[in-house]
Amino acid sequence: MTPAKIYLETFGCQMNELDSELVAGSLRALGYTFTADPQAAGVVLYNTCSVREHAEQKVWSRLGELAIRKRGEPGLVVGVLGCMAEREGGALMQRMPVVDVMVGPAELDKLPALLDNAVRTRAGMLADDEPRLRSAGQVALQGSASRRTGTLAAAADQLELLDLSRAVSPDDHSGSAYVRITRGCNKFCTYCVVPHTRGAEVHRPPGHIIDECKRLADAGVIEVTLLGQTVNHYRFEHGSAVAVGGVMQPQKGRVYKKSAGHTDAYAGERVTTFADLLGEIHERVPGIRRLRFVTSYPRSFGDDVLGVIRASPRICRYLHVPAQSGSDRMLAAMNRGYTVGEYLEFLDRARGVLDEPGIGRPLTVAGDIIVGFPGETEADHEATAELLRRARYKNCFIFKYSPRPGTVAHEKLVDDVPDEVKRRRNNELLALQNQISAQVSAEYAGGTVAAFVQGISRRQAKQTRREGGGGKGGVALTIAGRAVQEVQEVVVPEVGESVQMSARTEGDLIVFFDAPAAVATGLIGQIVNVRIERTTDLALHGRLC
Ligand code: SAH
Ligand code: SF4
Ligand code: F3S
Repeated sequence: MTPAKIYLETFGCQMNELDSELVAGSLRALGYTFTADPQAAGVVLYNTCSVREHAEQKVWSRLGELAIRKRGEPGLVVGVLGCMAEREGGALMQRMPVVDVMVGPAELDKLPALLDNAVRTRAGMLADDEPRLRSAGQVALQGSASRRTGTLAAAADQLELLDLSRAVSPDDHSGSAYVRITRGCNKFCTYCVVPHTRGAEVHRPPGHIIDECKRLADAGVIEVTLLGQTVNHYRFEHGSAVAVGGVMQPQKGRVYKKSAGHTDAYAGERVTTFADLLGEIHERVPGIRRLRFVTSYPRSFGDDVLGVIRASPRICRYLHVPAQSGSDRMLAAMNRGYTVGEYLEFLDRARGVLDEPGIGRPLTVAGDIIVGFPGETEADHEATAELLRRARYKNCFIFKYSPRPGTVAHEKLVDDVPDEVKRRRNNELLALQNQISAQVSAEYAGGTVAAFVQGISRRQAKQTRREGGGGKGGVALTIAGRAVQEVQEVVVPEVGESVQMSARTEGDLIVFFDAPAAVATGLIGQIVNVRIERTTDLALHGRLC
């Protein structure tokens, strides 16, 4: 049987993008192919996010559409992967019989077998075969909910094998890749679903991480982003490391206590800290010209880490370190474990070590804020505005609080800030942050930045499609998407014309510049120098040097 074409859509965070890439790689190895057009697919997979209700609603509405389609196309296989599958489990299957397979983030290694089974089961079905449609062997696998406690050290960690089996080929990337260092989270911020969907924190063995970086660099990747919910708390104790079947196992993190330090090493034990890991990757994989990491947690961000970043020319001077609120009262209710004063002290400390605009290496900082957490008053809100002024983020994601079932805030606190108040506070902070972003951008005007070219700007891609580009004389540019979609074609009007390219600075600012269509694809995945002529709150605009 020829395997069906798969459409895979990813929602949520970078962790999910990486999971999608790994899953796509393992399915491709079995002969499946991918399409960017859901209508052309026999298998539709959604890798989902539960962090806010809105993210889940998008998937519910997609599933509603698929249910209609499936009536006339009973062979269609539908899978829900990731955090929603973990959170909703069997309940989602009952509400949406259209779903054949559900696989939580901790069970993704089992997807190929489940999918194969579902495709075979559905293959013989006829349209309007309603009773059989409903009973076509739905399978739901959840693993994180148990938080994988005792068994972790004893049994081989299959997920680690998924990361290890990553297929790295020069055609699979656009010069940039994610590498996981920590899975799960132990912080239990009171609003957050992630510890419930991703399970307990485990740290990958440093040897595996460095090997993966090397293999990516050998395949031409020059930008690597290390991923974890709280990357700076990475820690691997070699003395207690366990190998199963010759494979070093990931290691459980500590349960977070407000009073406990995280970066301290026990006497006599060899420990790889986050600072050690960064330093080793930098030293041993010089082919990575840009090394960054997300997300940082504001507590216990050691001077050792700042020192390594400062001493390493290829580590980006960029931190994404969410504050969530500018009010101590709210931070306590959120169980964040730091005060506004401590947060700002950390930013000052980081800037003291890393901010060197004089040598063209400013430190840029990005943040996240939640507005309308239970009990948030106008005074709390004003305190958050003040935090934005002090923090001077290059950008900040501002979210309206969304109660998530299963979290402490959902169970114990009343969602008492009315939606219109949340919306107003959100807009006020966005407007303020836009001003600050514009000021941060303006500092780059007239200077030259080194920019990593990601691709043709979306605006350009849309425009050429609207103009019906692709007519005679058009040139087709191919962009290898992040390995999930098959190569995407963007058609540009005329040879000799220029296209707008989008790129990123070391500090993750967006840069737009024009390039002749003939050379545009060759620039993707490279670092180029751009002279900045004009800036806005969102981006820097310039010309290629
Ligand atoms: N581990 C990261 C955040 C991961 S979730 C950290 O601790 O910083 C990404 C962002 O989503 C969070 O920073 C938070 O701002 C937002 N978020 C998480 N849960 C939310 C909720 N229930 N409602 C609104 N925003 C939420
Ligand atoms: Fe969620 Fe807090 Fe963990 Fe971040 S640190 S993932 S906000 S529980
Ligand atoms: Fe969403 Fe899960 Fe990531 S809830 S933000 S996809 S960890």
